[in-house]
Amino acid sequence: MLRDARLGKAEEYFVEYTSSVEFDTNLVRYDLLGSMAHVVMLMERGILPEKDASALLRGLLELYRRGVELRKEDEDVHMAVERELHRIAGDAAGRLHTARSRNDQVALDLRMLLRDMLNTLSGRILELMEVLLRIAESGAEVVMPGYTHLQRAQPVTLGHHMMAHFWSLSRDLERLEQAYARLNRSPLGACALAGTSFGIDRRRTAELLGFAGVIENSQDAVASRDFMLEPLSASALVCVNLSRLAEELILWSTQEFGFVELASEYCSTSSMMPQKKNPDALEILRARCARVFGALTSGLGICKALPLAYNRDLQEVSPVVVEALKLTESSVRMLTLILSSARFREERMREACTPYMSATLLAEVIARECGLEFRRAHALVARAVALAEQAGGEEHLAEKLREAAGEAGVELCLSPERVESLLSPEGSLKALKSEGSASPATLRAQMERAAAVMREHRAKLEERVRRVEEAYSSLLTHARRVAGV
Ligand code: ARG
Repeated sequence: MLRDARLGKAEEYFVEYTSSVEFDTNLVRYDLLGSMAHVVMLMERGILPEKDASALLRGLLELYRRGVELRKEDEDVHMAVERELHRIAGDAAGRLHTARSRNDQVALDLRMLLRDMLNTLSGRILELMEVLLRIAESGAEVVMPGYTHLQRAQPVTLGHHMMAHFWSLSRDLERLEQAYARLNRSPLGACALAGTSFGIDRRRTAELLGFAGVIENSQDAVASRDFMLEPLSASALVCVNLSRLAEELILWSTQEFGFVELASEYCSTSSMMPQKKNPDALEILRARCARVFGALTSGLGICKALPLAYNRDLQEVSPVVVEALKLTESSVRMLTLILSSARFREERMREACTPYMSATLLAEVIARECGLEFRRAHALVARAVALAEQAGGEEHLAEKLREAAGEAGVELCLSPERVESLLSPEGSLKALKSEGSASPATLRAQMERAAAVMREHRAKLEERVRRVEEAYSSLLTHARRVAGV
């Protein structure tokens, strides 16, 4: 119908190749709501007679209720809706596209879809943060090795470790919140690229659909997809964090580490090796994160160097972004389930905290209390470690510290009992004073701030969800009134 006057019938494979119907099932609901808002506005502005508006809204509401079947031969969701609407509302359907193009329409639908997807993803991240906070609470005094270069470094607590992941996810949430604020503007009314000669009210449709405002420039409104690329890149950063946590759980669940036991219902076994218990979901998660990075590369690549305004290339961005957001969301969900059912093996973590891990603290205390430059204190303890190594290992550290001090002509001002207590992981942790450090006392303060941050994130999310829901429900009420149903 659309092509008849200008081009005639399209070749079958061309239609299949260029159609977006497979993806567009994601857009049906938003397309219908967007059309309802458009019709209400056109009527209010006197562009559509009330009789036609009422017929259109009746048809759109019916489609909203029963859904729209997208056919292979439809070019996209917009044409499918118009076709179905024509069957219900007759010629009035031909007025729906007054002062509108598929270019602003698809940009609108995508923004509405992404609002919902970002809210769902944010909700999932909050659930994961909640679990991290719970583990941190019960693990606030559970000592474990902290690592650099995956070599034992200094003692920390399980709580401190989990909170490290908590804060990076909190920044991920902030990024999603900011991306949401930027995408929550309506492109509708930009039309094909240059706007329209009809006296439309863009702010009214924006308001009806719960947007915070409009996109200022009509070319920008139809040509830009940064509103999709930004959530995608924020998701890629979420995946960086998820994969780090997953990788640690994979390592920690090995017999070599033995720090965690994953619940059996979240593990697989081997078809050949009867003893096996494998962390398959975490491995899939690790791989899926890479797919999200691939999506980011695709999305950026499609959009770069596109001349203004709309180009059909943009159609190819949508499935890539939506798939990546779904992959991210499902991975957050999986990790939440695995983490909340995992059992942390405190005894193994404690055992892994060996005397060398107090070397840093020893050097600090010697510098501060015995009046040495830190560099000399560092060298003294390093020498003690080397001597302990020669003598057979970590248990010789205290005795070798005295020997190293003797060699260097330094008077060690610490009593043997003091050295002993600094060598225990608990003593070592207690000595830490700086804000954000791993000591149980400073961790408490950190966790109080974390609880407040959680409340803020949650309130913001609830507010966002509420605004969209309220807008849609009053739009539907309004549409029903005009339609007389
Ligand atoms: N399916 C299209 C997309 O996703 C809708 C817009 C079509 N616009 C056009 N000028 N052909 O971008």
